[in-house]
Amino acid sequence: MTPDLFEPDAPSTEPLEPGAVVLRQFASSHQAALLAAVQAVTEQAPFRHLVTPGGFTMSVAMTNCGALGWVSDRSGYRYDAIDPEGGRPWPAMPEPFAALAARAAAAAGFDGFAPDACLINRYRPGTRLSLHQDRDERDLRQPIVSMSLGLPAVFQFGGATRGERPRRVPLAHGDVVVWGGPARLHFHGVLPLKDGSHPLLGDCRINLTFRKAG
Ligand code: SIN
Ligand code: FE2
Repeated sequence: MTPDLFEPDAPSTEPLEPGAVVLRQFASSHQAALLAAVQAVTEQAPFRHLVTPGGFTMSVAMTNCGALGWVSDRSGYRYDAIDPEGGRPWPAMPEPFAALAARAAAAAGFDGFAPDACLINRYRPGTRLSLHQDRDERDLRQPIVSMSLGLPAVFQFGGATRGERPRRVPLAHGDVVVWGGPARLHFHGVLPLKDGSHPLLGDCRINLTFRKAG
C-alpha cells in the first residue's frame, strides 16, 4: 500500500484564512466529466468578452450555465436568466458540476450549498483578472466555489479592503478554492497567465465559479 503522503495528486486541504481554503486536487478525478460539460455548454453559449460598466473589454472570456448567469455591460453587473447574446436561457448546469461543487463546499465547512449559477472563465497567456469582490449574489452567507482546470495560475487572495496586500496562491489543474463566512467579501484576482501548454487544454486555463446567486 502506498501511503497518501507519497501520492503527488492526493487531495489535501490548505487553509488560507478563516472561511477560505484551497482543496488541492479536489476536482482532478472529475476532469473528463468537467471538460466534456464545458464543451457542451460552450457549444450553446460560446465564450465572449464582456464590457465593463466603465467601457473596458475584459481580457477573460466568459460564459455561464445554470439558472442564472453573471453578465456585465455598460449598464452594470448583474445576474440574468437569459444569455444576452443568444436571447435564450443559459444552458442547464450539468449534474456533475453541482454535485462536485456541493461536495467541495462541504469539505470547506459549508453544508447545503446548492449553486444556481456557474460562471466559466477562460484565460489565455497574458490574461488577468484584476482584484475585485464577488458581491452581486443575494445571499452572502453562501460561499463561492472556484475550480481550476488547465494551465496553472497565481490567484491573489486579499482582505476586506482593496488596500490589503493580497497573498499569492499558486493554483494548478484540479485545485478548488472555497471562500465564505468571514472571507466571503474578500478581494481576489488572477495575475497574468504565463505562457505554457497544458496536456488537456493547450494554451488556456478554465475556471468554474459556482455561486448561489438568486
Ligand atoms: C473569479 O474571481 O471570478 C475567478 C477567479 C479565478 O479565475 O480563479
Ligand atoms: Fe471573483
